[in-house]
Amino acid sequence: MSVTIILGTQWGDEGKGKAVDYLAGNFDFTARFNGGNNAGHTVVNELGTFKIHLVPSGIFYPRMRCLIGNGVVIDPAVLIEEIESLKQAGIKTEKRIFISPRAHLIMPYHKILDGLYEEAKGAGATGTTRRGIGPAFADKTSYNGLRWSDLADEKLFADKLQTQLGLKNKIIVALGGQPLDSEKILAEYRGYYATLKPYIAELYPIIEKGLRDKKKFLLEQAQGALLDPDWGTYPFVTGSTTLASAATAGLGIPPRAIDQIIGVTKAYITRVGGGALPTEIKDESATAKALQEVAATTGRIRRGGWFDAEVVHFSAHLNGVDALFLTKLDILSQFDEIKICTGYKFNGKRAHYYDLNAYQLEQVEPVFRTVKGWRQDITRARKFSDLPLQARRYVETVEKLVDVPIKWVSVGPEREATIKR
Ligand code: IMP
Repeated sequence: MSVTIILGTQWGDEGKGKAVDYLAGNFDFTARFNGGNNAGHTVVNELGTFKIHLVPSGIFYPRMRCLIGNGVVIDPAVLIEEIESLKQAGIKTEKRIFISPRAHLIMPYHKILDGLYEEAKGAGATGTTRRGIGPAFADKTSYNGLRWSDLADEKLFADKLQTQLGLKNKIIVALGGQPLDSEKILAEYRGYYATLKPYIAELYPIIEKGLRDKKKFLLEQAQGALLDPDWGTYPFVTGSTTLASAATAGLGIPPRAIDQIIGVTKAYITRVGGGALPTEIKDESATAKALQEVAATTGRIRRGGWFDAEVVHFSAHLNGVDALFLTKLDILSQFDEIKICTGYKFNGKRAHYYDLNAYQLEQVEPVFRTVKGWRQDITRARKFSDLPLQARRYVETVEKLVDVPIKWVSVGPEREATIKR
């Protein structure tokens, strides 16, 4: 396989970092093609604890080269901090991290506008990470973005910034914010450029040669398929497309070069921010608490619910997922009974995810199948046959409902706590 995509099939936080870390050993390149520093996971290994938002997680494999594609929006301060923390741990970053000059910059006004729009929308807010993602992608689409390649030309960048501040300051002030000063931003961004210049390189020849030389690429999608602006629960979505096909535009990978799409799916489901989560357990029970999580990088609470085969079937087939990597099965070990959502009812009739908009999805009644739990520690299982019968049945039931083979089952956070079937 020369190009493999790792794709979250739910609303993000499926454990893609773990899947990438487990699989990356056999690859030459890892790459990001969408999103920005709204993504994030904590990597714990022998070198320390790292909060990674932008650098592909393959960086921990010494011979790996890491590409940040044109489809990613970059907050330079965050990227510099990340690279610094890697360098301090003795990880070589020069000639290993490559940033596309086509990638757009997150500017200070994007972060301010993100917050102001959210506040203006009140109860209808998306619940964004407030990192400027939506406004940065909106500027890209409306031809108002600033890119790394603009920063290479001081005058061009200063002129463009002046124009944008003329526009953005009017909106910021109208919404009750403070106008921004161009000189300060100019100095800041020139400094970022000086620091990151050694990493900026057009990716096309690197990727084109890599494909020709049969190098192996592992592409990490950020967020999850259900946060896609078109196929997710709009407007409770993110600013860039999260589908596997985004790798073509967001990195420069021909569609025919993609030969494997691995869907990462959690054995239950979580969602952070606004929007429907049909299988959410909304009460204060111990079960509800057990399925909630605290986001590693923002500290926000992720709402939790039972596995939803309706949405995972949809996102897996929409993206052409070949195999599933099922994560966090061990979390379900604490329950006597486990529920699996097999479909929805809307106004008393069976309905599919794709029949409904985000507001209708809030009103569906999930149809559940209840299965017996296994109530046993499974974190040391390394072969499928090591799992208790009920756990194996659970995996097989999910596989049947989603109709995609489950090739890997993760039973703990460590790299080794993974079963290959
Ligand atoms: P934004 O991407 O910051 O604009 O946020 C839009 C929506 O996507 C919000 O509901 C966020 O909570 C959600 N979101 C963005 N990135 C992630 C992620 O990496 N994991 C889970 N949810 C995310």
